[in-house]
Amino acid sequence: MKTMILKGDICYSKTKKTLACLKNGFLVCDSGLSAGVFPTIPEQYRRFPLKEYTGKLIIPGLIDLHTHGPQFSLRSLGLDKELLDWLEALVFPEEAKYSDISYAEQAYTAAVGDVKKGPNTRACFFGTVHTPSTLRLMTLLEESGLVCRVGKVNMDRNCPDSLGEASAEASETATRAWLGQCDAYKNVAPILTPRFIPSCTDDLMRRLSAIRKEYGLPVQSHLSENLREMAWVRELCPESTGYADAYARFDLLGPETIMAHCVWSDSAEIELLAQAGVFAAHCPQSNMNLSSGAAPVRKLLAGGVRVGLGSDVAGGVHPSIFRAMTDAIQVSKLRRIQDAEDDPLTLEEAFYLGTLGGGAFFGAVGSFEAGYEFDALVIDDASLAPPFPLSLRERLERVVYLSEDRHIIAKYVRGAPLF
Ligand code: GUN
Ligand code: FE
Repeated sequence: MKTMILKGDICYSKTKKTLACLKNGFLVCDSGLSAGVFPTIPEQYRRFPLKEYTGKLIIPGLIDLHTHGPQFSLRSLGLDKELLDWLEALVFPEEAKYSDISYAEQAYTAAVGDVKKGPNTRACFFGTVHTPSTLRLMTLLEESGLVCRVGKVNMDRNCPDSLGEASAEASETATRAWLGQCDAYKNVAPILTPRFIPSCTDDLMRRLSAIRKEYGLPVQSHLSENLREMAWVRELCPESTGYADAYARFDLLGPETIMAHCVWSDSAEIELLAQAGVFAAHCPQSNMNLSSGAAPVRKLLAGGVRVGLGSDVAGGVHPSIFRAMTDAIQVSKLRRIQDAEDDPLTLEEAFYLGTLGGGAFFGAVGSFEAGYEFDALVIDDASLAPPFPLSLRERLERVVYLSEDRHIIAKYVRGAPLF
């Protein structure tokens, strides 16, 4: 099953800084895994079907390490506000509507349709506090063929009554009931999702920590995003040595933890994240829209933190991780003006972050090296060609910067075609 050969112009990250490019190459998918990229079809694969994509770009599927399903309807709205005011004025009232399953059905159907036609093959979603709506999001994602982690959000303080959970105990009970209904999925799995420190009491964090150990679950949350948020966390957790420490106290940091943003992580926090093996989800567009700042991506990487990209819809307007790659490069250039130590990110580095970097959260994902899961995009960039020849790298650069879904003509996840 799922053994085939794709012929085309193939690009993928070899390392953080190097891109492998092969024109008229053959990419072999053997039982849902890549068997590698070759200049001619290896003897043992000659009898398998050949997908003819000559002249088209073939690249790994993109990885969105951080997004919010219920915020797709809010994209581009209220972005004259900063993070905390935007959460209160727009996000919390919108998320409260997901107590109504028919509202969730309508909004999530549109959101999943959007992601399906774009370049992302895998994503980590925040849902809302509501179990039926979150299960509906999981079912729609499962039907789409995307591979996802989805979290029922936990929040029991500092939010409106219409959204917050009644107590830490009620949040725990609902989370356990939700987890009891997550076994039916093949490509979608749960992830524990305490919203962020200001939304969760210590009592709730202790209960979630116990659930994490009991079920062996990954965790996602927000960290060091915005200066006003940082000041609030210091007020709420005077005993913590920093924001990440406020999670570490409950043993919520580990190699299966994703922390979105890390814009204001200092060297001590970077060391803590690196030691715990945490993934930082860099969300540059959200960081611009919500006036959060320019994250120290190069310092995170140099400090040994694993980094991927996130769209952070609706802090970010665009779900496409091509757009996140472009934004990451552009934000890094502005950062360079303030911090001469940090060279801007290159195309190679941004492409790595959006494929292999974030892909590592899902296992052997984000590359075409033999043994990696076969997630691939086929892109017809003929209409983007200038009247002079471009190298493969230049063609990829144009596709990344234009970030248009319409050039994607085929999308494979774990060897299965989504379209
Ligand atoms: N911090 C807590 N909740 C949120 C959210 O929904 N979006 C962003 N960008 N930051 C958050
Ligand atoms: Fe977020």
